[in-house]
Amino acid sequence: MSKKPVIVFEGIEGSGKTFHSQFLSNYLKKKKIPHIKLREPGGSRNSEIIRKLILNNQSNFNKNTDLLLYLASRSENINMLKKLYNKKIIIIDRFIDSTIAYQHYGLGVDLRLINKINSYLLGNFKINFTFLNTVSIKNMNKRLKKRKKLNRYDKFDVKFYKKVQQGFIKLSKNKKNYQIINSDLDIEHNKNLILTKINKLLK
Ligand code: TMP
Repeated sequence: MSKKPVIVFEGIEGSGKTFHSQFLSNYLKKKKIPHIKLREPGGSRNSEIIRKLILNNQSNFNKNTDLLLYLASRSENINMLKKLYNKKIIIIDRFIDSTIAYQHYGLGVDLRLINKINSYLLGNFKINFTFLNTVSIKNMNKRLKKRKKLNRYDKFDVKFYKKVQQGFIKLSKNKKNYQIINSDLDIEHNKNLILTKINKLLK
């Protein structure tokens, strides 16, 4: 296992992935372990511009345009990621599984097309470990209600998020490099799970 792993946090809205990826980044900072953390869509300047365009409540792109925009935002990050690959720990808040879960399992876009463009963009860049954050739909709704501002992708119906979460779970099935973090459980328990795994990865 690489000592400078690529670690991805995935999950639907309100699943705690942003919280946990920030928690991990703070932990590494405290230990003075060099790393970078970015989110997708977003992360780099150009990718943040594309993020605004996709998630703007005034936008009404069709599902193929959305797919191409998410991939365009990835394309704007990938050169930087490749430069840092194996040199620094990389933490990513959403990555290729989000595209499969939302655009394929959620919206029905062709999986082969998504896989093809993702492999073209990623080349030899590989994810070492994924924390899949899950949440009950009840808790997801509670957490979304607390948000001051909702973006265009926060407003699908419950059925959609169920499909997306099922998609994420399918992607993690029988894979050694995935761990499910059930965010309906105690937060301290989950933080410990993450740190135990991270310490193993960095050993
Ligand atoms: P965020 O607010 O958690 O950063 O995520 C933005 C939204 O973008 C979220 O609803 C998931 C969605 N998304 C996709 O649909 N496809 C993708 O490839 C990515 C990276 C995110």
